[in-house]
Amino acid sequence: MGDGSPAIDALQHTGATYPPPAAIAAGAVVRDPGVWERAAADPIAWWEEQAGHLEWSSRWTRTLDDDDAPFFRWFTGGTLNIATNCLDRHLAERGERVAFHWEGEPGDRVTITYRELHARVSRFANALRGLGVGRGGRVAIYMGMVPELPIAMLACARIGAAHTVVFGGFSAQALCDRMIDFGATVLVTQDEAWRAGKTIALKASADQALAGAPGVAHAVVCRRTGGDINWVEGRDAWFHDLEQAADPDCPAEPMDAEQMLFALYTSGTTGKPKGIVHTTGGYLTGAASTHRMVFDLHDDDIYWCAADIGWVTGHSYIVYGPLANGATSVMYEGGPGFPAQDRLWQIVERYRVSILYTAPTAIRTFMKWGDALPAGHDLSSIRILGSVGEPINPEAWEWYRQSIGGGQAPVVDTWWQTETGSMMISPLPGLNTLKPGSASRPLPGISARVVGEDGQDVPDGQGGYLVIDRPWPSMLRTLLGDDQRYVDTYWSRFPGLYLAGDGCRIDDDGDFWLLGRIDDVMNVSGHRLSTIEVESALVDHPAVAEAAVVGRADPITGEAIAAFVTLRDGVHGDEALIAALREHVAQQIGPIAKPASIVLTPDLPKTRSGKIMRRLLRDVSEHRQLGDVTTLANEEVVGEIAAQAATNPHGED
Ligand code: WTA
Repeated sequence: MGDGSPAIDALQHTGATYPPPAAIAAGAVVRDPGVWERAAADPIAWWEEQAGHLEWSSRWTRTLDDDDAPFFRWFTGGTLNIATNCLDRHLAERGERVAFHWEGEPGDRVTITYRELHARVSRFANALRGLGVGRGGRVAIYMGMVPELPIAMLACARIGAAHTVVFGGFSAQALCDRMIDFGATVLVTQDEAWRAGKTIALKASADQALAGAPGVAHAVVCRRTGGDINWVEGRDAWFHDLEQAADPDCPAEPMDAEQMLFALYTSGTTGKPKGIVHTTGGYLTGAASTHRMVFDLHDDDIYWCAADIGWVTGHSYIVYGPLANGATSVMYEGGPGFPAQDRLWQIVERYRVSILYTAPTAIRTFMKWGDALPAGHDLSSIRILGSVGEPINPEAWEWYRQSIGGGQAPVVDTWWQTETGSMMISPLPGLNTLKPGSASRPLPGISARVVGEDGQDVPDGQGGYLVIDRPWPSMLRTLLGDDQRYVDTYWSRFPGLYLAGDGCRIDDDGDFWLLGRIDDVMNVSGHRLSTIEVESALVDHPAVAEAAVVGRADPITGEAIAAFVTLRDGVHGDEALIAALREHVAQQIGPIAKPASIVLTPDLPKTRSGKIMRRLLRDVSEHRQLGDVTTLANEEVVGEIAAQAATNPHGED
């Protein structure tokens, strides 16, 4: 592994191990210790068995088509509908069961049964048809965490249209780019969203984005806060008006297993986000089976994934996986600290949540807020805890298990990616002995390895590149409109192996320890952002000549964005300019991309070939001893940057 892998040695095994609690092991969904071996012996049979849990309109004729690798296809010839699987098939036996206990940030609550969800999805699906969306149509969705968001997604699936959900924290520019790239003809949005007691003007951003995306002919607006919005006659329509006017009966379209269900944009190592394409049959097979097995889902569980549906975690584990399994979920709209810092624990207590899935950055925030908050609530319903989004440090892992899980609940640390569609490396809570900080091992049917520069397996205990060496049903199929970039990004470095972009090592027991990204992708509070994306946004500002961005270690957010900027000649740099630059990045990408610190410097450290030395900048940002600078062309710059960094305390917000 090359240099510049910050986390390579960061995670040390504390030595603690936790075997499955007897009560969980005894009744677990997966309790056969031979399950990995059985799946490895015949992966095709394993995936057929998982796909068999779904309802197919017509059975597939070929399970895995690898004729055109790495463009793999799964369950070809089969047809199914996602909405039928998530809704209709539950109606006979569990129609009155709660699908979502929804709670709004201001405290309003709505309970939605499977029957009600089915009815709303059917109507909205017909409403979309009325706007000209049908099989193969394209719908963009830009909303907060309101019930109408999963309703819109499922409505698309019902009529065979693909969706792209754009996280509500992204800017108008980001939304505009994604709508155009996706080829959306309809946008579903809302007036405003609640976040930490404030309103976020989604419709206002949507208006700006729509101005640059003339192909989007209709905007459907959900009324959430009732705040004032701009209205364009002929283009805009109220969600609820369309829903009420629509025919309640909407037969679901049987779709080809390989039909695109959605594309979700994520940062890569260039400035242009990648549209990750997921399909119907394989994706749902992966999302549903992992949701059932990894969370040990039982009929009486109350499940809560506290992510945002704008990210893949919400797609797979708030919407598609849980609904396919007929689970009862909690869905929460707002911020974790509003109106008080025990909001999550109130919710766990109120609904008797038994499975909680969240991110290390949130767990570390709760740790910081103190033990008294969870201790003030009855969290005894918690059975299983999940973690996702970044490596979880053992200290946070232990705290989670102790303070939220009552010292009992297994913590399943689930490694996966937007690209993988569903969990890949994770414990099964009834079988694996857990080690804080390790994601255990690849799930049954998944085959992962750790290789060195030469593509050969590294010895146990040594860091290397995480690769997947066998296709799996929920894998991405391509990057939207860019097959070549798909091949280049994932399949070129080591032919025949999927390159995840993460460092990893395997210990003597065969447990995997994820070590962070090996490329120029930062992980800020579990959100992926590329350094180049943020650099482009900075350079876009008229005052900026050049910018370099690195992720520096941060105790709460995992990584924080540290920017180094050289100004154009004659521009005066001061606090006001730094504030303006941060705002500019928020405008270009979204508030999540605002640099935590910006250092103004007369020059950037570069190699003789002109490559910015990120490793050095990372060292500077983390106030470490400077690394080797002999390949540096302009050594004098380094001292200057270090001095500046020392006087510019970071973490402004
Ligand atoms: C990181 C989120 C360590 C990793 C589902 C990956 C993790 C990237 C874990 C994908 C974990 C996610 N342990 N690292 N349990 N989960 N990651 O696409 O670097 O938003 O490549 O998908 O997050 O982020 P994405």
